[in-house]
Amino acid sequence: MTASETLRSTSKDTLHDVLTRLEKEGAGLGHFNVSDQVLLKAVVAAAAETRLPVLIGASEGEREFFGARQLAALVKSEREQSDVPLFLNADHTHSLAKALEAAKAGFDAVTIDFSALPFEENVARTKEAVQAIKAVNPAILAEGEIGDIGTGSEIKETAQGGKLSTPEEARQFVEATGIDDLAPAVGNMHGMLKSMVQGKAKKHLDLERISQIKKAAGVFLTLHGGSGTDDEHFRKAIAAGINIIHINTELRVAWRESLDKSLARDLNEVVPYKILRPVVDSVKQVVSSRLRLFHGQTVSPEAVETVA
Ligand code: G3H
Ligand code: ZN
Repeated sequence: MTASETLRSTSKDTLHDVLTRLEKEGAGLGHFNVSDQVLLKAVVAAAAETRLPVLIGASEGEREFFGARQLAALVKSEREQSDVPLFLNADHTHSLAKALEAAKAGFDAVTIDFSALPFEENVARTKEAVQAIKAVNPAILAEGEIGDIGTGSEIKETAQGGKLSTPEEARQFVEATGIDDLAPAVGNMHGMLKSMVQGKAKKHLDLERISQIKKAAGVFLTLHGGSGTDDEHFRKAIAAGINIIHINTELRVAWRESLDKSLARDLNEVVPYKILRPVVDSVKQVVSSRLRLFHGQTVSPEAVETVA
């Protein structure tokens, strides 16, 4: 296998195949961000537990901490031992150089993110990146982003995000760039408000807009900023045309809370794997519960409480 081939080696299904199959089944593919091996282990364990495919994501910051090639090698190794499809996405990639780095490292997908630029510039830079990564490997799924949904998978004081995307913008952007997958602004927002972390408030989506954008764009759609979204809105968003759902802050909250608890349990404990094992389990519960929801399965109230 050359560096320019995707990481898939144990299954014939490409990411495109899996997305097509899930769309027919009325299900969404869960995308979960990882910045370290604890989070990666949790996502892989959740995929094994639920027997559902996952898209593992790492933004530029997460890739810098993990190492893009090192993460790709670990996912390749996990995939060789997994019965369920595991894919890898270079999330929120803001330069051609970083998109190419991920493509050459063997990522299955690249989220090309020039959404902070004016529309025409976003079109030009995205088109250039799509052509460059497809030249490395045409099977790589190229995602483009439009609109403003704020930045950072963090706990926030106030809501972020600007104007929602329109079906016309979506149509023009897809036609001009050649992307396989579009991430629009449809009421979603990166990160969570404190009230969302406490389970007192939920994000709500513009479901009618999703459906209109799907018709106009005619490609796969990704929902970014999934953490803290109302369960019913997730189900309806998938029915309206969302194919991939990104969740990050919920995992980070579970990671932080369980790590605090684990460290406080015994101040003399110094064995990393004893401290970190409960952290993997807590994050895994969040991922499994979201995966079941995205696949139309009933989620137990305890699992929802864990998410909140
Ligand atoms: O790309 C990552 C996400 O869009 C995650 O957003 O932190 O609100 O779940 P979130
Ligand atoms: Zn995102």
